[in-house]
Amino acid sequence: MIGRLNHVAVAVPDLETAAAAYRDALGARVSEPKAEPGHGVTVVFVDLPNSRIELLEPLGDDSPVADFLRRHPAGGMHHLCYQVNDILAARDRLKAKGIRVLGDGEPKTGAHGKPVLFLHPKDFSGTLIELEEA
Ligand code: CO
Repeated sequence: MIGRLNHVAVAVPDLETAAAAYRDALGARVSEPKAEPGHGVTVVFVDLPNSRIELLEPLGDDSPVADFLRRHPAGGMHHLCYQVNDILAARDRLKAKGIRVLGDGEPKTGAHGKPVLFLHPKDFSGTLIELEEA
């Protein structure tokens, strides 16, 4: 069921500093910052040959990333995103296995315009998991 690693998301307190580290120190290709008000984040995409990193800076007061940064002020890994072919089939299978799907369980449109769902970190060794239909 599980497909490719679509991205690793890293919460950062300062997007410029984080993007510069990837661009200048690691030599990565990084995008311009993109505001995603619906998700409460501004995102920079870092392109890698086999995947991508998303640097997430909080946008707005009720950003879920702001909460995360209060607990991890220096920033840190926020979630892993795996691709699935059929997100509703994946959701139903996971629920049948006792995995907790966050929110109302209905897919939302993610940062790439594709349907996404999030799974409870306690069901995956403390790691927030995003599924994206791709
Ligand atoms: Co993501």
